[in-house]
Amino acid sequence: MTLSLGVLGLGSVFSGPYAALITRLSQENRVRLVAGYDPDPAKREAAADRFGMDTSIDGPQGLIDRDDVDIVLVLTSMNEHGALARAALEAGKHVLVEKPMSTSLEEAAELMKAAETAPGLLVCAPHVALSPTYQEMHKRVRNGEIGDLHLGRSRYGWSGPWWGRWFYESGGGALFDLGVYNLTSLCGFFGPVRRVTAMVGTAVAKREAEGEMVPVRADDNAHVVLDFGDARFASIATGFTMQKYKSPAVELYGSRGTLQMLGDDWAPDGFEQWSNERGSWEIVPESNPQWPWTDGLRHLVECIENGTPTVTRPEHAYHALEVMLAAQRSAAEGRVVEIGSTFPDFVYAAETAEDGNDRAKHDPRSS
Ligand SMILES: NC(=O)c1ccc[n+]([C@@H]2O[C@H](COP(=O)([O-])OP(=O)(O)OC[C@H]3O[C@@H](n4cnc5c(N)ncnc54)[C@H](O)[C@@H]3O)[C@@H](O)[C@H]2O)c1
Repeated sequence: MTLSLGVLGLGSVFSGPYAALITRLSQENRVRLVAGYDPDPAKREAAADRFGMDTSIDGPQGLIDRDDVDIVLVLTSMNEHGALARAALEAGKHVLVEKPMSTSLEEAAELMKAAETAPGLLVCAPHVALSPTYQEMHKRVRNGEIGDLHLGRSRYGWSGPWWGRWFYESGGGALFDLGVYNLTSLCGFFGPVRRVTAMVGTAVAKREAEGEMVPVRADDNAHVVLDFGDARFASIATGFTMQKYKSPAVELYGSRGTLQMLGDDWAPDGFEQWSNERGSWEIVPESNPQWPWTDGLRHLVECIENGTPTVTRPEHAYHALEVMLAAQRSAAEGRVVEIGSTFPDFVYAAETAEDGNDRAKHDPRSS
């Protein structure tokens, strides 16, 4: 079976990282890139020249309605994600949507409703939980190797994009673009957030984007504190305000040990584990240093080929969106905000029923 791909948004992530993975999957005859749409004619022309895909479509719905498209990739600016992903699901397609799944919780709820009844699968970025490093850390946490999880800390940032002025407009910002990785990672380890409090602001008033200085109307700097219940807390430091760092991406502190993810959680570089029993650090390198952060596409293709459910679930992405919007509200109103949604734990294909019984002991949902 060769699955046909249609792409909405032919910008930076399509022409670089996703195109590289699509080329690899095409060489294995698993996918075929058939069509793409972007409102920018120069991007349509460049994609047609480079990939031989049909970009002569006159709008996103034209692509979504094509009979020869099995999977729609939504790689547009963030405000467009929710409506396009929903339209594609409602047209019977499988969908991969970049993060966040939407910039509005109401629109995300409509998308979730569509996903419940649609025949197609919905995979939402970020795909951090699919990396070998994350999977091994998750297994160790659920197996109780560091005991009960009490505290977490994470960070992800850089100096910010110079393309796409939408990053700095309403519906853009560092929390949606960067903080979402840490949040997705932490929730995967700790379970659902119950309450959030945050400082979220705009540290740099004007930035260069698309060759011009533009006013920044979105957040570019944030500290978020998450309460997972039972006095279990974690924090996120994120922003277009970090030039460089040499600190772990994610730190997990348990009653018997510590886990520290190295690199960034979208590009992990292995981890270090402290064990009280052993009294030493174990260094575990990333088993696949070439792991691409676009891996959700390979995962979606594999799930369609095998008829299996996805490891990463839309409920997780919906929860992350609710927490990010609540963090913005917390900062604006100076108060703690309660979170209502929840999501199921990751279950990886390699985990057996017996493992499942063990891991449940260290899944906070089962306590
Ligand atoms: N750039 C990164 O490093 C990176 C990494 C991971 C994920 N992402 C996510 O990927 C998405 C795209 O980011 P990017 O850096 O490629 O941005 P980009 O600005 O380079 O590309 C987005 C493209 O979407 C197009 N677009 C806007 N509305 C559209 C519509 N209705 N239909 C079709 N196309 C439309 C724009 O014209 C633009 O070409 C964002 O959601 C971003 O958060 C980006």
